[in-house]
Order: sequence, then C-alpha cells, then structure tokens
Amino acid sequence: MEKLENKFYIRTYGCQMNKYDSDIIKALLLKENFKEVSTPEEADYIFINTCAVREHAEKRAIGRLNSLKSLKKNKPETIVGVVGCMAKNHPDLIHHSVVDFLAPPDSYRNLAKWAIAKKSGYIPEDKNEQYSDIFIYPNKISSYLSITRGCNYFCSYCIVPYTRGLIRSRPPNNILEEAEELIDGGMRELTLLGQNINAYYYKGVDFPEILKRVANLKGLKRLNFLTSHPKDIPDNLFSVMAEHNNVTNYLHLPLQSGKDSILTRMNRGYTLKDYLRIIDKARHLLDDLYLSTDIIVGFPGEKEEDFEETLRAVERIRFDQSYMFAYSDRKGTLAALLKDKVDERIKKHRLRRLIEIQNSITMEKASAFKGKKMEVLIVGEAKKGGKIGKNRSGRIIIINGVAKIGSIYIVKINRINGRVPIGEIEKEV
Ligand code: 5AD
Ligand code: SF4
Repeated sequence: MEKLENKFYIRTYGCQMNKYDSDIIKALLLKENFKEVSTPEEADYIFINTCAVREHAEKRAIGRLNSLKSLKKNKPETIVGVVGCMAKNHPDLIHHSVVDFLAPPDSYRNLAKWAIAKKSGYIPEDKNEQYSDIFIYPNKISSYLSITRGCNYFCSYCIVPYTRGLIRSRPPNNILEEAEELIDGGMRELTLLGQNINAYYYKGVDFPEILKRVANLKGLKRLNFLTSHPKDIPDNLFSVMAEHNNVTNYLHLPLQSGKDSILTRMNRGYTLKDYLRIIDKARHLLDDLYLSTDIIVGFPGEKEEDFEETLRAVERIRFDQSYMFAYSDRKGTLAALLKDKVDERIKKHRLRRLIEIQNSITMEKASAFKGKKMEVLIVGEAKKGGKIGKNRSGRIIIINGVAKIGSIYIVKINRINGRVPIGEIEKEV
C-alpha cells in the first residue's frame, strides 16, 4: 500500500460562510503539515464541505460523493470526509459507500487528528466553538471574515440554527487582530460575515461599533458585510456606513416574501411596511445604494394572490439583485410540519415569473450606469480579459485596459454587457 502524504483536496458547496469555513479548515490542516492539492485524484484526503439549506444543494453534494466511487475503488486508502451542514443534518451519510467520517461545522478542530487516525463515524462538536485563534490566509485582495457563528432566529423554513447552532459573537479585539493580519498580508477588501450579522454583540460592542472599528483600520479600501435581518437593523447602522468612506453602500437584506401573513408564518418578525421603511431610510442616507435580497416562492400556504404581492413588492422596491428560491422542505424545521404545501409545478412556475421580472429590473438598473463616472477598486482578472473591479456600492464593474490589482481608479462606464457595466480608466485615485 502507498504511504499517505497528507495531501488534501477540499470542495465547497453553499454560502459565503461555508467558503470561509473551508479557509478555516485549510488553515487548521496546514498547521498539521497537510498540503492542499487541486484534484481529488492526487489527494490522500478528500473533504466535501456541504450545504443543507435546500434539497438542490444536498443533491449536488451527493452527486459529488457518488462520482468518487470509482476513485475510491481504485485507491481504497483515500479517506473521504463529509464536512459542514449535511454532516450534521444527514447522519445517514455515514453509510454512503465512499464516506469514512462526518464532520459538522463546530468539529473542525479535530478534523486533522480524526483523518490521520482513519477513524470513522461522527466527530463530536463543541457548541461554543468560534475558531477565534484560527486566522485564515487567503492570499488574495478580497477576503471574508466571520464575526459571528450560528443563528438564533429560527425562521420556520430554515435549517441553519439546527446545523450551525446558536449565535456566538467573536471578541472585538480578536476580529481586529485577524483583520489587521489580513491587511498586512495585502488584502484590501473585507466582507464581514454572520448569518444574521446585525445581532453581533460582545460586552457592550454592537454591530455598528465593530463595523466602525474595522473600517478605521489603515489600508482597508472596501468593507462589506452580510447578511442583515430586517427585524434588527440598528438605528445608527446607515449613518455609520455613510460616515466611513471605505464601507460600501451595499445592503443584502432578505425580504423572503411580500405578503405579511406569509412573513408571519415564516417567523420573520417584520411586515412589508417595516421593510419599506428600512429601505427608504437606507436610500436616503446612502448614495447609490446597491440592494440585494433573498426571496422564497411557494412557501406552504402561499396562494396565487400572496405570490402576486411578492411580485408587486419586487416591482416597487427595485432590488439591484435577488437570490430567488423555490421553497424546499427541510426535515426538522417548523415549516416542514405545515400541511398546505404548494405543488412543485406551481412553485417552479412562480419562480420563473419572479426571475423574469427581477432580471428586467436588474438590466434596467445596470443600464442606467452608462456614461457615469465612479471610483473602482480593482479586485481581480476578468475571465475574458480586462480586470474585475468594484465601485463604492460593491457593484461589479469590468475594466478595459491596464490597471493594478488593489488600486482605485476613476472609471467612466461606456457600455453595458448584459447586466455588467464596462468602463475605461480615466485616472488613478
Ligand atoms: N427553502 C428555500 N429557500 C430557503 N432558504 C433558506 N431555507 C430555505 C428553504 N427551506 C433561502 C432563504 C435564505 C437563503 C440563504 O436561502 O431565502 O435567506
Ligand atoms: Fe436561517 Fe432566518 Fe437565521 Fe437567516 S435569520 S440563518 S434565514 S433562521
């Protein structure tokens, strides 16, 4: 049998928090002298970091596991670990023919040990885990930084509080230390992460305060945060955003539904009117606000006229971008117990109608940028040539011509390609 060399391959599904968790896993494994490789074939250890938020995401991860069957047959010594939310939510995965062990989100500290020992089964979790001492090394211009883990809100459709546990906030100094280290390493854009980030609280420091402290770090050119909840937007959040030039005017604020009775059944804790009031305030205080949202169609009990209310809300609010989903039953959540489920075909039809309306709004809003001038931070290389940049609202802008990654330029938008503004550099800032 070949000697194991601790080469690992990791594949990540799901949200930004999962991507950040994969960076934590990498940092933990590198500390134990593991080496990352870019294909499963080269690896001694394969980790699939999974998402359980919708059935579709689960199916993709299971498809990935199935595709490893022949590899495992040819190289039976390869260890396969399912990590992330499905490891918590689907303990039955331990019986999958390629799977050796399961590692839920708060168990990663023991991942290396467990993998090396070739133990099977389920790595125990630590409910208080924050990975505060594990700093990630993304070696990029942009990075995520998680400031809370877990969620207490129990929206009735959502599996997250069950897979990721209740909210824990990291100490402010610890967040600042990691942010400084990332900036020293060359990072210029930072996105603070939390399932419900406005609920951040640590010994008198609330979310606007930690935002302020991070924004004041020298060398940080853009600061974003995700995800806000309409139930607990702090009074001073938008003024703090407006006061700090490097905080982007970007708000991701899931609406989920435009119908109050559905919002109540979702256990969201706000009405459409509350939501509209928040948006008015944000648009008043923040220039060129880039507003994105999440919407679920076909929640149990959603009638045609309820769905129409969601369409009307979308037309009224005019989001720059929406992440739109058909409701997916999650075993163990309260919504899964509701009786009046919407037929799959109707859900798909509603989703198509919503996407069509949102797409035309997205296009219209993007096309309004033609001829405008704006400050753009260059964050990477564009696939088809040129550079990827982000403006002061976090909007993606493609730049033609020569530009340095990490620098800010004044850019004039001269055309729109689909929904993406394309611009040319006027001068460096
Ligand atoms: N079905 C469909 N969409 C869901 N989301 C969360 N749970 C479900 C579910 N059971 C969506 C919500 C949330 C986003 C991350 O995923 O819109 O904001
Ligand atoms: Fe899920 Fe609601 Fe928590 Fe978001 S706020 S993670 S939708 S329970």
